[in-house]
Amino acid sequence: MRPKPQLPAGVIVVSFLLSCLTFACSSSPLSSEQSQAFTSILVSQKGLDFVKDLLVNKAVASSLPIRLPTIDKYQKIPFVGNVRMVLSEITIYKLDAPDSYIRLGDAGVAIIASGTTGDISMRWNYSYSTWVLPVEIADKGSASVKVKGMEVGITMGLETQEGSLKLNLLDGGCHVRDLSIELDGGTSWLYQGMVDAFDKKIRSLVESAITSKLKEGISKLDSLLRSIPKEVYIGSDVSLNVTIVDDPQLSSSAIGFQVNGLFMSRIGVPVPDYYVRKPYLAVSCRDPAKMLGISLDVAVFLSASSLYYNANFMHWIMDKIPDQSLLNTAGWRFIVPQLYKQYPDDAMNLNISLSSPPDVRISENNVGASVYADLVINVIESGEAIPVACISLVIRGSGTIKVVGNNLAGSLKLSDFTMSLKWSNIGNLRMFLIQPVMWTIIETVFLPYANAHLGKGFPLPIIHGFTLQNAEVICSDSKLTVCGDVSYSESTNLKRLPISLLWPSNMYTA
Ligand SMILES: *[C@@H]1O[C@H](CO)[C@@H](O)[C@H](O)[C@H]1NC(C)=O
Ligand SMILES: *[C@@H]1O[C@H](CO)[C@@H](O)[C@H](O)[C@H]1NC(C)=O
Ligand SMILES: *[C@@H]1O[C@H](CO)[C@@H](O)[C@H](O)[C@H]1NC(C)=O
Repeated sequence: MRPKPQLPAGVIVVSFLLSCLTFACSSSPLSSEQSQAFTSILVSQKGLDFVKDLLVNKAVASSLPIRLPTIDKYQKIPFVGNVRMVLSEITIYKLDAPDSYIRLGDAGVAIIASGTTGDISMRWNYSYSTWVLPVEIADKGSASVKVKGMEVGITMGLETQEGSLKLNLLDGGCHVRDLSIELDGGTSWLYQGMVDAFDKKIRSLVESAITSKLKEGISKLDSLLRSIPKEVYIGSDVSLNVTIVDDPQLSSSAIGFQVNGLFMSRIGVPVPDYYVRKPYLAVSCRDPAKMLGISLDVAVFLSASSLYYNANFMHWIMDKIPDQSLLNTAGWRFIVPQLYKQYPDDAMNLNISLSSPPDVRISENNVGASVYADLVINVIESGEAIPVACISLVIRGSGTIKVVGNNLAGSLKLSDFTMSLKWSNIGNLRMFLIQPVMWTIIETVFLPYANAHLGKGFPLPIIHGFTLQNAEVICSDSKLTVCGDVSYSESTNLKRLPISLLWPSNMYTA
């Protein structure tokens, strides 16, 4: 067995500048200082090894059995004469690739499986006639062939075309170093004759069959990659733009992908333009042994905030709250006496709407949000809502972000809030008396409502079939990074490539 080449240790903290210098910048037509990539995905050496093992195993499983063409040949055998030998039903039914590796370079990605072995079964027969005997002599049987020391390798170019990954086979081949043939039955002259006649032929048939399987596999993988949708639906009106921006960046031990990553409306609700500076968002994980790192710029969260705000999703009427006494003017008798005087014992509701998109800030170890809301107090009289006053609120909270499945989910905790009277039809309100009521409403109604939505989260750009494991979330300046390993679920079979590896279709219901 050939010694496995020593690869540089997988270091996930990759200097994007470096890989950019050697790869992306030189080939990228975009030389501007700004980029539309708000999510960076880095697959480390460990992640690449995982994908490589998966591809090698799936390639082997999906290509077997491989049927080779029949070989029909006359061979001159000493003391016997000219013998017609036929090998038929030649089938590679087993392949073992115990020793494979993946290597990245400027040219692309190489996967090499050295020391691969194969098992072949076949039928043989021969026939000859001599001038001594007038009858034809014939025999038949089965044989097995062990293929040893097979070297199988491919080099693929990886580039981005119209927002999708494109894979092309740059080089691929198979070299068989050693064959051993075992016959069930037959004679020793037959055995030697077989080896002499067929050894070379079997090698070349195996080599070309495996090479053509590789080509087939790469073109399947390529169409799979291209069939990955460029958006992930989040509810029916909103999706995440997972268009790939620029070519993948290959360094010696990692591949980086840039994804637009922003929320977008499917019904034409505008979202402001965002830009981040190049070089791209660096993905840095504390634990270099993680397979995958995904960094999201704060713009991803701001785009969600602005989209939901512009789509008018962010307003609601509260007519059921834990402290139901607050929805009757009697409950406000001592807080706003004039309200009770004017509308004694009337039902009320509270109409909350956001006055601007929530602001999201991400800093070292902290996610914060500020929510700007107007709360209109309505009195219900003969079934009609009469607005009586409006209070402007600025609610500041601190967030906790965690990974649930492949989703990034959050929850918000109240840090503090400020309030002011925006307008009133019932005279001046004593805000210090209203303050504890507002606190109760925020804590018992507003935050639980917001958290119920934030708790569902939104999907990270991870290909369907793969699930994040042992993920950790790291907050740093204006950026949030998820680092983790992935597992692959066997229920999705690579044989059915085109449907199995799609993005999750709908993991979120608004
Ligand atoms: C040998 O095998 C081939 C293919 O199965 C068959 O066509 C042929 O008739 C066989 N010859 C003898 C002599 O059995
Ligand atoms: C999605 O992202 C790509 C790449 O940044 C961009 O060209 C495209 O316009 C975006 N699509 C929408 C609908 O915003
Ligand atoms: C809620 O208040 C907003 C303004 O703050 C207003 O536009 C909307 O019509 C109100 N909705 C109801 C049902 O009262």
